[in-house]
Amino acid sequence: MFFSSKRVALLLGFSIALVTTAFLSLVEGVSNQALLVGWLLAFSSSYILIQVTLDFLVFKEINKIYVMINKLRRRDLSFVEGKETESKINPLRRINREILDYAAHKQKEINDLKKMEEFRREFVANVSHELKTPIFAAQGFVYTLLDGAAEQPKLRKKFLKKAARSLDGLDLLVQDLLTLSQMETGGIKMHYEHFNIQETVQEVFDQLESEAEKKGIALKLESTQSATYVYADRQRIYQVMINLVGNAIKYTKQGDKTITVSFTETAEGVDIVVQDEGRGIPAEDIKRVFERFYRVEKSRARNKGGTGLGLAIVKHIVEAHKSEVQVKSKVGDGSTFSFILPQGDKFSPSLAATPQPEEEEVE
Ligand SMILES: Nc1ncnc2c1ncn2[C@@H]1O[C@H](COP(=O)(O)OP(=O)(O)O)[C@@H](O)[C@H]1O
Ligand SMILES: [Mg+2]
Repeated sequence: MFFSSKRVALLLGFSIALVTTAFLSLVEGVSNQALLVGWLLAFSSSYILIQVTLDFLVFKEINKIYVMINKLRRRDLSFVEGKETESKINPLRRINREILDYAAHKQKEINDLKKMEEFRREFVANVSHELKTPIFAAQGFVYTLLDGAAEQPKLRKKFLKKAARSLDGLDLLVQDLLTLSQMETGGIKMHYEHFNIQETVQEVFDQLESEAEKKGIALKLESTQSATYVYADRQRIYQVMINLVGNAIKYTKQGDKTITVSFTETAEGVDIVVQDEGRGIPAEDIKRVFERFYRVEKSRARNKGGTGLGLAIVKHIVEAHKSEVQVKSKVGDGSTFSFILPQGDKFSPSLAATPQPEEEEVE
């Protein structure tokens, strides 16, 4: 190193001695011998003083680094937070800074891993709990049958139907879990195509019509045009709409209510809005409804047969289309879920009789 403490001390000592002798020479009657002694004294004392001071400072910095390395070795990263930026000129301080940065980086990694571990543990607990419910129910019905109910044709049918319904719920849950995990690992390929989303929503209405009718709910499609073309994955968007309209029906009480799906063509794309007049979502729960297994009313929603994964899947699919789901809701008045999809092209070849959708990987 060019600026070693010895060189600096030598240089400064020499200069100080030179200045001192220059001043001494101005005093009358000082002999050359005295000047030499003065020079030697000034040089040696300032040399020693400067070197000791520099060494002390360097030693102090090295000691700091040593303490830090020792803490790192003990995985004690408490010193990382709240450190002011050190001078960039002093190389020792720079090393110090670099170690701090490295430690801060490691600390972040550790925190992320801890969060992931916590998330994983919670997820496993949730899945086990959700699986338990239909399995226990089906088990109960099967044992009731074995215990004699099977002998009576009427009871046999009743319990077999109940067991089948529980197993259907189990199947639904496993399917949703699979979809989610595939989406998260990027295992699902998106099949983009140009299609008329009004047709897709009509199919969703056909599927859910009887459920809505039972509750006296009308399903309405609202648009100024007879067709609305989007460029998206038709199958996945069907899944999104089934979940959103399904929820709208599920969380609306029996009565003279309407669920409206509307399409508006904007500069950013087609704005798709699902609006209900249901019970609404409290403000503090709105952000969380997209989390897996999050339900506003824990016990009641479970009885309604949902998996608690619907909106998590909706979020994933919409995000895979580089969009975002917006929610507005007021307790007692109803909820509105909306998202934007890229505008499709009516005359695209993918709208031919046998469409050949192109494939794109989910990120
Ligand atoms: N349209 C809606 N109106 C009121 N609450 C809703 C609506 N959609 C979703 N929610 C709330 O969000 C929760 C999560 O929805 P979801 O992920 O679809 O799970 P699930 O419907 O299986 O319970 C629901 O349990 C419900 O509390
Ligand atoms: Mg749902």
